[in-house]
Amino acid sequence: MKKIEIYVFNIVILLTAVACNNMTTKYAEHLTLKSEFIDSQLHDAVSQYKLLAENLNDSLVPKSYYKDSDSLETSKTSWWTSGFYPGTLLYLYSYSSDKELLTEAQEKLVLLEKEKDNTHTHDLGFMLYCSFGNANRLSENPHYKEIMLTGAESLLTRYNPTVQSIRSWDHNGEKWQFPVIIDNMMNLEFLNWATRESGDNKFGEVAKKHANTTMKNHFRDDYSSYHVIDYDTVSGAVRHKQTAQGEGDETAWARGQAWGLYGFTMMFRDTKDSAYLRQAIHIADFILNHPNLPDDKIPYWDFDASTIPNAKRDASAGAIIASALLELQAYGDPAQKKRYLVAAEQMIKSLSSSSYKAKPGANGGFILEHSVGHLTANSEVDVPLTYADYYYVEALIRYKELLD
Ligand code: GLY
Repeated sequence: MKKIEIYVFNIVILLTAVACNNMTTKYAEHLTLKSEFIDSQLHDAVSQYKLLAENLNDSLVPKSYYKDSDSLETSKTSWWTSGFYPGTLLYLYSYSSDKELLTEAQEKLVLLEKEKDNTHTHDLGFMLYCSFGNANRLSENPHYKEIMLTGAESLLTRYNPTVQSIRSWDHNGEKWQFPVIIDNMMNLEFLNWATRESGDNKFGEVAKKHANTTMKNHFRDDYSSYHVIDYDTVSGAVRHKQTAQGEGDETAWARGQAWGLYGFTMMFRDTKDSAYLRQAIHIADFILNHPNLPDDKIPYWDFDASTIPNAKRDASAGAIIASALLELQAYGDPAQKKRYLVAAEQMIKSLSSSSYKAKPGANGGFILEHSVGHLTANSEVDVPLTYADYYYVEALIRYKELLD
């Protein structure tokens, strides 16, 4: 973009952002899903999560469900998905005011607290912000804030100023020097919060550096993203552009595209830097224009999967994209707003249909079926996943807020 175009774009963005505060009342006429429909989905979700709570061992959090043995796949809190279950319970509590959900969430928060000192993962945003962050949003709590600020310090230990990114993984040291995955965009919201809360800019500065480095190196010309970028820790140069969970290094792994869309939309919300909004819009266009995006708008697990049209769908990617689009539409021009709302509505409708949503009382208590964790490792293929439920419920709640 030329300088003058960027200037005009920035003015439009600022005016749009200012107008956003005042926009929800004007939405109602554009929304086609009825309040009763959204309420009914949330009501079903509450029932399912009460069942999930009954099925669960007190010291563990749920990851997925094995249909064949009718048993839950669980994890300790050190696994990256540990924050989603309490986070979903808290969203559902915010909707229903059902104290059983709150009590269950609070019990899991006690287990999760120790992860604030975990410096071996980049996923502290998922783990601590989707959980304690949601709890603190509902009711400000100094103890939760302290836990999160300690966790944010732990996350900063993984930042390398030469690479200007937060390191994602410690494994595969023989293959990668400093791997950064697109998913890591999702942990930046936690750092932005830490700066707002503490008044110390260091957290938000790292978030911006990481986002800028990601924008520079993770994206192809068509705005699809690589999964893993490996950096040289001495020079900061890119060593490899690869995948870990996609079908191939040059394919567009669906959940990676979803994390990128959500991450850059959130970075625009937190910084008002229009470069992040432009990036999010480009990613949304990549996804929504893709010839392999099915009519029901729930992506195949990889946009370039060689077995399309028989490839597995990934409901988790659909849920993350739906939730992200419901935010992005608020920052778009009228045409974008309409396009993102229509697509998000289709995604919510699809996920809420019997094609993806489990029958009441089934699925171990998880809400959605048909997500893909790591297909090429034959792990969690076509199963419920805790993060699919989290972003689906978030999308329902975001939609409800637009209706209200
Ligand atoms: N962050 C890991 C995944 O999306 O599978």
